[in-house]
Amino acid sequence: MSGTAQIGVTGLAVMGRNLARNFARNGLTVAVHNRSRSRTDALVEEFGSEGTFVPAGSAEEFVAALERPRRLVIMVKAGEPTDAVIQEFVPLLEPGDVIIDGGNAHFEDTRRRERELRERGIHFVGAGISGGEEGALNGPSIMPGGPAESYESLGPLLERIAAKAPDGTPCVSHVGPDGAGHFVKMVHNGIEYADMQLIGEAYHLLREVAGYSPAKIAETFRGWNDGRLDSYLIEITAQVLAHTDAETGKPFVDVVADRAEQKGTGRWTVQIALDLGVPVSGIAEAVFARSLSGHAELREASRSLPGPVAEPLDEAAAARFADRVEQALYASKVVSYTQGFHQIQAGSEAYDWGVDPGAVAALWRAGCIIRAAFLDRIRAAYDGRPELPSLLADKDFAAEIGAAQEDWREVVATAARQGVPAPGFAAALAYYDALRAPRLPATLTQGQRDYFGAHTYRRTDRDGAFHTLWGGDRSEVTA
Ligand code: 6PG
Repeated sequence: MSGTAQIGVTGLAVMGRNLARNFARNGLTVAVHNRSRSRTDALVEEFGSEGTFVPAGSAEEFVAALERPRRLVIMVKAGEPTDAVIQEFVPLLEPGDVIIDGGNAHFEDTRRRERELRERGIHFVGAGISGGEEGALNGPSIMPGGPAESYESLGPLLERIAAKAPDGTPCVSHVGPDGAGHFVKMVHNGIEYADMQLIGEAYHLLREVAGYSPAKIAETFRGWNDGRLDSYLIEITAQVLAHTDAETGKPFVDVVADRAEQKGTGRWTVQIALDLGVPVSGIAEAVFARSLSGHAELREASRSLPGPVAEPLDEAAAARFADRVEQALYASKVVSYTQGFHQIQAGSEAYDWGVDPGAVAALWRAGCIIRAAFLDRIRAAYDGRPELPSLLADKDFAAEIGAAQEDWREVVATAARQGVPAPGFAAALAYYDALRAPRLPATLTQGQRDYFGAHTYRRTDRDGAFHTLWGGDRSEVTA
């Protein structure tokens, strides 16, 4: 027997509840289910007027409420809880039904689940959903992977609830098979970490070197948000910095413990990049910066180490420095996105997904945490040149980076001279210089490796692998 609900959501914590409301507000009949019935009842009681909900008290009732092919969205914690819910529902489903995992699952888990369920004729869609609670309710960026066939019936429903880009395009499209959607969401989160780290470094430099107050820095960020740095994270940064702690009357940022936490998706990005051999140094520095901030005892023990203390600039010099920081922030941000898209392309090649980087950039134009005006330019760069080897090879981005050179380098040098940590800015600049260097010290690395491990090396003047008899007459032999 088939039900009437076009889609169902199981797992009604804030994200799941808001997603169910979003579907209902957009005219869909939504079956809703939660392990504890009280949450289901609370949703219908509080938001039942927003649309048509079909509350289900059990997995059986939930499945029976769904039209064929059934579409079930799972919104529970990643990992074992997701596997448990899948195991609970699979016996109740039939070939052609679709399970959508909207959590922050590891893409390898999604690949496993998709493979296992495909054998039972059930479609498994791992969908990255970005935008937090607000996005889930009013329009997230959605990155669904899985079988292209399932997107045919699922896509139109997701397009109703997705955020809309400035040109009205829904920020959802089929990313690629099996784990492609969750992989792209993972990289989104890695870029998010890098973006947040760079913004944090810009704030820290304006605070310590320019001598600006949080309120003044908020004003600076508001100004930057009117230009090429226009983005959600810059926008909310201005609001966070302008916020005053009600209890103490102090700037909010001055009463917050400076130990960053992380649920782990940014960490995954770096782990996978290491496996793929993709240098995501900006994202890695962001993850390590969060880790370092959490080592309170190590930091306390290091507090008295010798080094400079930043001396704030005078007003005119501070204003000039702030302009330089905008250049450094923008250039470093372009590098972080360059690294992220490189990882997406490397993952797509490694797993044969056929991910379109321009389409990914289009998905991120609205709804997600890294939404930014310049993503439309990234989309255009890849759409205009699908074989683009690097975002930095795009002539417009290359020109902007070129114009930022002097300021970017001055900011990194000032940070080093003043003892203000700017690992993101510095890593981005080092990556940029390494990419453009005609020769790298990897030459010496290869010689060292051959000396102590006979690992061989290649030559610039002929093909083949070679080894030098370091312990003997130091003649060279072909390996
Ligand atoms: C999003 C966010 C979200 C993120 C949490 C936790 O796209 O909506 O990226 O998925 O996982 O905000 O972030 P942390 O990893 O910093 O804890």
